[in-house]
Amino acid sequence: MGPSVTDALAAAADAARLAPSVHNTQPWRWVVRGDTLELYAVPQRQLQEQDPDGRLMILSCGAALHHALVGLAAEGWEHRVERPAGEPLAVVHAERHAPADPHAMQRMQLLRVRHTDRRVVSDEPVPPDVRDALAEAARHGGARLHVLNRDQVLQLAVMIEHSGEAQRHDERMRAETDEWVGGDRPEGTGLPDAVIPAELPLTTVAERTSASPAPSRPAPGTTAPPPTRSCTATATSPATGSWPARPCRTCGCPRPSTARRCCR
Ligand SMILES: Cc1cc2nc3c(=O)[nH]c(=O)nc-3n(C[C@H](O)[C@H](O)[C@H](O)COP(=O)(O)O)c2cc1C
Repeated sequence: MGPSVTDALAAAADAARLAPSVHNTQPWRWVVRGDTLELYAVPQRQLQEQDPDGRLMILSCGAALHHALVGLAAEGWEHRVERPAGEPLAVVHAERHAPADPHAMQRMQLLRVRHTDRRVVSDEPVPPDVRDALAEAARHGGARLHVLNRDQVLQLAVMIEHSGEAQRHDERMRAETDEWVGGDRPEGTGLPDAVIPAELPLTTVAERTSASPAPSRPAPGTTAPPPTRSCTATATSPATGSWPARPCRTCGCPRPSTARRCCR
């Protein structure tokens, strides 16, 4: 007797629990029906304030579908995905069992260790071959990877800062965030304290030099001391212990050298 298709589909749905989702809401539901697996969105888990159109919810469901497909392939199940016009969002048909593809098994192992990393981003440029590989992966998934140029990064950073500011002053938005971020939930949804850095990582927003205080002028006849620059980023996080703490390459301050910027 061959492997049970029902078990394989249930295992694929289980693998989908590892998928990223907005605020870790995991807004999906799976139904095994014969040799198919159906994916539904769960509107009760939609962020009504932050995601009124449900786009982030659907993206999260897409990530779950991706994980389920990798799980099926890792078990050697060839499959086909149908996207009906309405509900369910997707129907996965398990078609034929064959020896598992080692590449798919490796991808499944990688999904088990993947997680969102909220530490400060490195200032190392992404090597072109890695960028190409990411673009190819996006193409393979029917998407397009758009790499922002420097001006676009700054524009995006400003927009993010403005929207963050607006959100901070919106009571309902804040209440919704509090519902999902921090603390612990029995179902394992939401963001527990352990994954949130003690301080917000700096982003390119902080790189805007106009945001820095103007240096004070030296008194006439004196020379200005070298600027004393201290960085504000925290060097520790409850989630990860210490950040890499080599001194900054620009000025020698103790800001982690992986930080995007320290004191320009
Ligand atoms: C559509 C979408 C939007 C997300 N937005 C954010 C975000 O704005 N900030 C953030 O820190 N994480 C964001 N995440 C990551 C989720 O918080 C994370 O996937 C979830 O907490 C599960 O954790 P994991 O990725 O480590 O498994 C987003 C994920 C998805 C799928």
